Amino acid sequence: MRAAAASYDALLRDAAVALTAAGIDNARFEARLLLAHAAGVTIEWLIAHGGDAAPPVVAETLREFTARRVRREPMAYILGEREFWGLPFKVSPVVLVPRPDSETLIEAALALMPSRTAPWRIADLGVGSGCLLLTLLREFPNARGVGMDASAAALAVTQANAEALGVAARLRLVEADWRQPVWAERLGGPFDLLVSNPPYIETAAIAGLMPDVARFEPHLALDGGPDGLVAYRAIAEAAAGLVVPGGQVLIEAGEGQAPEISALLLTAGLRPGHPWKDLGGIDRIVPATH
Ligand SMILES: C[S@@+](CC[C@H](N)C(=O)[O-])C[C@H]1O[C@@H](n2cnc3c(N)ncnc32)[C@H](O)[C@@H]1O
Repeated sequence: MRAAAASYDALLRDAAVALTAAGIDNARFEARLLLAHAAGVTIEWLIAHGGDAAPPVVAETLREFTARRVRREPMAYILGEREFWGLPFKVSPVVLVPRPDSETLIEAALALMPSRTAPWRIADLGVGSGCLLLTLLREFPNARGVGMDASAAALAVTQANAEALGVAARLRLVEADWRQPVWAERLGGPFDLLVSNPPYIETAAIAGLMPDVARFEPHLALDGGPDGLVAYRAIAEAAAGLVVPGGQVLIEAGEGQAPEISALLLTAGLRPGHPWKDLGGIDRIVPATH
């Protein structure tokens, strides 16, 4: 005799128990998201149909997802998506998972750029998933953007997100590396707004980060060199040549890095302003004008 198929509620319970045992916070919440993804249904549907028998393929898929999460793979990679500024961004292990702290850069851009309808030219150095640049292209409907990244795989994700968000026609992507000469010339500036969230973790500190980050997120997106500032030096050196007089530069900083980034921008001939704080009160975005 075959065992009766488990209900959605029973599958949810089993997944939550496994995640709890693995020390995952919010285990029940995450289990529900994984189950909804495995079943291809909404959370609301699951709540209404918890007592229904789940197809065996859903049980099997949920077991796979749960095992991945137990190994600390980020939820965003398992679900294939992360929300940023209320927009859905596809993500995969070739791009950094968009962080809520980075939304501070969008707030700053909206406050500093005087017109929503102007045809701003915007560049994003280290565009990754595209969460910064594509959000800006949505908020500034006549703007055009250039996204640069050293990772061709990341740029494929940017492109897919641009198409899904309806901004691909106003986007150009450039595969380039700020460690190489003449990268800045290839962007075709100058720009009214230059943004960047570069890798800023000190190399030696990466191994000590949460396993979700250290083991799964791309090291190219994390590793800021021995002092965490290597990318900022390259970007600061090129910034004045990339931005029009009166244009804006917005750079995301790691905790405690804002003073050094301001100093680099000042040395490069820009006028840094007061950093913008994230919701945790950390100086997160360093602004500068040209
Ligand atoms: C911290 S992630 C930021 C991604 C995205 N902008 C965001 O805010 O989520 C840094 C990005 O810079 C890219 N990157 C790292 N080193 C680079 C280099 N030398 N030249 C160009 N891009 C680089 C990485 O591939 C990654 O996509």
